[in-house]
Amino acid sequence: MKKKIISAVLSAAMVAAMLVGCGSTGSTPEGGAETPAEAPAAEGEATAETPAAGGAGGKVGVAMPTKDLQRWNQDGTNMEAQLKEAGYEVDLQYASNDIATQVSQIENMISSGAQVLVIASIDGDSLGTVLAQAKEANIPVIAYDRLIMNSDAVTYYATFDNWMVGTKQGEYIKEQLDLDNQAGPFNLEIFTGDPGDNNAKFFYGGAMEVLKPYIDEGKLVVKSGQVDFDNVATAGWATEAAQSRMDAIVSANYADGTKLDAVLCSNDSTALGVTNSLEANYTGDWPIITGQDCDKPNVKNMIAGKQSMSIFKDTRDLATQTVKMVDAIMKGSDAPINNEKDYDNGTGIIPSYLCEPVFADAKNYKVLLIDSGYYTEDDLK
Ligand code: BGC
Repeated sequence: MKKKIISAVLSAAMVAAMLVGCGSTGSTPEGGAETPAEAPAAEGEATAETPAAGGAGGKVGVAMPTKDLQRWNQDGTNMEAQLKEAGYEVDLQYASNDIATQVSQIENMISSGAQVLVIASIDGDSLGTVLAQAKEANIPVIAYDRLIMNSDAVTYYATFDNWMVGTKQGEYIKEQLDLDNQAGPFNLEIFTGDPGDNNAKFFYGGAMEVLKPYIDEGKLVVKSGQVDFDNVATAGWATEAAQSRMDAIVSANYADGTKLDAVLCSNDSTALGVTNSLEANYTGDWPIITGQDCDKPNVKNMIAGKQSMSIFKDTRDLATQTVKMVDAIMKGSDAPINNEKDYDNGTGIIPSYLCEPVFADAKNYKVLLIDSGYYTEDDLK
């Protein structure tokens, strides 16, 4: 595992050097609405969208994991809008984080004539059988944001540089605590994501690449003793699960006034759980808390000083890149990619396009999120 992580570190660094961004931001109208105006009324309900006027492009099935988390609503809305604008018919489905629902939605897409599938999987390992059907029917598959594992039906992968997300979070903690100059020791706790999501291992790996040496030398102390991936994973990325784990950690280690200096949270839903728990149970100085996604509640928390940073992954850019992939496939040409070494799904390397994640905090959120039209001022009130 260590060897694998190290080779991923090296290649991720090389990719970072050649990254030139990810398409132009804001190419579609985007109001940042939490719930897309045209999205299906309910998750799991089959509702094929109507073709764009004059669209002769063909049909694209877009399978998203859930509406519970704001980012996936935005991903879905952006994909749908941009695909329609490019002349494609779109079948957009959300699966309530239920694997069986997602499998049956994909089966329906295949049987109803989708020519390309774009899939953000709930569990990267659970789509092998249904994707074998797609392959049988010669339907190319783009894994969206999350890599689909152990299936040779995956044609391309469009995502953000997930390793870089983790290193940015780790570097932030390192810089804020000034780990190279301060004696410490500092107390750290760690929360990452769902074990079935390949991204979670990349986020964790990138962050631990930065922080592990300080843990090893004793400058960072994880009082709970929960450091290994399996011990810090959060099933379903659930806020409630992170919250109750943090409750237990606080009562066992920080209830006596011991200071907690930093909490590495791989994303915003886990950061929200940690913040909720600390607000209810912790009385010491507020720790550094990391996050990812710039979800609205978390941006509000950043503004209020309750979350230190987040990572902005502009879903408009990921949608733009994915639409370029769809377009190339539909026209019978090769899709644009910028990485051919980091993402092996167990059947071989999947040609990928990695967009660049961006650091966000209370100082730059206005430029990143409001000036770019991602959110309105009202969204963050
Ligand atoms: C995504 C994150 C998201 C998490 C939970 C990951 O696969 O890359 O942006 O926070 O899933 O939905």
